[in-house]
Amino acid sequence: MKETILVTGGTGFIGSHTTVELQQAGYDVVIVDNLSNSREDVLDGIEKITGIRPAFEKVDLRDFDATESVFKKYPKISGIIHFAASKAVGESVQKPLLYYHNNIVSLINLLQLMPKYDVKGIIFSSSCTVYGQPDVLPATEETPIKKAESPYGNTKQINEEIIADTIKSGSPIKAILLRYFNPIGAHPTAFIGEMPNGVPQNLIPYLTQTAMGIRKELSVFGDDYDTPDGSCIRDYIYVVDLAKAHVCAMTRIMEDQTTEPVEVYNIGTGTGTSVLELINAFEKATGVKLNYKIVGRRAGDIEKVWGNVDKANKVLGWKAETPLEDVLASAWKWQCVLREKGIM
Ligand code: NAD
Ligand code: WQD
Repeated sequence: MKETILVTGGTGFIGSHTTVELQQAGYDVVIVDNLSNSREDVLDGIEKITGIRPAFEKVDLRDFDATESVFKKYPKISGIIHFAASKAVGESVQKPLLYYHNNIVSLINLLQLMPKYDVKGIIFSSSCTVYGQPDVLPATEETPIKKAESPYGNTKQINEEIIADTIKSGSPIKAILLRYFNPIGAHPTAFIGEMPNGVPQNLIPYLTQTAMGIRKELSVFGDDYDTPDGSCIRDYIYVVDLAKAHVCAMTRIMEDQTTEPVEVYNIGTGTGTSVLELINAFEKATGVKLNYKIVGRRAGDIEKVWGNVDKANKVLGWKAETPLEDVLASAWKWQCVLREKGIM
C-alpha cells in the first residue's frame, strides 16, 4: 500500500524538492502551504519532473480548523514532513511575534491532530543554527545547544523541545529532527528551485543574481576570520541530497525502525567550504566571472561551522553525494531559467 505523506510548506524550496523525491520513492504526497513564501506554479514544476501532480491545499497551519479539515479530507495521511515556517533570520529580529506565532502554533496544531488521525510520525526541519558557534568542530548531534541569537533560531530550539515533551508525555507518535546545514542548489531539471523574495539575504541566490547582473556585486562579509583564507566557513548541502534524507527518515518511521523516541540527525556534507572557495568553485563550474568585493563582517555571523554526519550515514543509510561544482551549476541553471521566464 502506498503511504500518504503530508508535506507542509511543500511549495517552498526544500519542500518542493522533497515532494519530488517522495513521489519518486512511491509515496503519495499532499501539500499544505499558505503560499506566504512560495507560488502555486511550483506544482507545475513538480508535475513536470515526476509526472504526478501532488494534491494541494492552500491552508494556513496557524488555523486549527482549516488544518484539521485537511486530515478529514485525506484520512490516509500516515506521516508528516513539517517544513512550513517563516525562515528569515533578520526579519525575525524585527517581527519576533510573527515568527513565534507562525513557527510554534503551526507545529502545536499538527501535534494535537496527529494522534486523532492516526498519523504515525513527523519529521521536523531543524537547523544547525541550534549549535551557534560550536566550541569543537565538526558539530555532532551531541554538540551543546547554544542560546539562540535570533527569534528564528529560538523557534527551532523551542520546536525541538515541544516535540520531545509531547512524546515524553505519552503521545503515540514518532519524531525525527533533521538539523540541516546550509541547503543550496536546484533540481537538475531546473523545473524547481529557490525563489527568494526581494533582495536575497543568503549567499547563493545573491551570488547567482550578481552573476546574472541583477545585483552589481557580491559583498563577501569579512576576510579577517580565523579560517585559512579569512572568510567564513559553512557546510553547503545540495537540496536534492537533503530531500533524499527525508525519504530515508520517513521510511525509517514507516517501517518502525526508530530506536529512540525522538531521533536527531545532522544533515550536511561533513565538509566546510569558505565563501571565497565557494566563489572559486562557482566560477569554475559555470565559466562565469563573479563581481565581488570584500566588505566588513555581517553582524551575527558564525565564523565557521560544519557537521559530523556519521550518524545519518550509518543509521539512516544516507550520504550527500553531489559534488559542489555540480550543485553550483544547478543553482546557475535555475537562475538562468528565472531570467528566461522574467521572474528574476
Ligand atoms: P521556504 O520559505 O521556501 O518554504 C517554507 C514554506 O512554508 C513556504 O512555501 C511558505 O509559504 C510556507 N509556510 C510558511 N508559513 C506557513 C503557514 N503558517 N501555513 C502554511 N504554509 C506556510 O523555506 P525552505 O528554505 O524550504 O525551508 C523549509 C524549512 O527548513 C523551514 O522550516 C526552515 O526553517 C528550515 N530550514 C531552512 C534552511 C535554509 O537555509 N533554507 C536551513 C535550515 C532549516
Ligand atoms: C552563508 C555565508 C555569510 C551573503 C542562514 C541562517 C541559518 C540557516 C541557513 C535556517 C556566511 C556569507 C552571505 C552575502 C556573504 N537557515 N555571505 N555575502 O548565515 O550561514 O545561515 O541560512 O535555519 O539559520 O542564519 O547563510 O547564506 O546567509 O551565509 O559573504 O551576500 O555567506 O557571511 O558566511 P548562514 P547565508
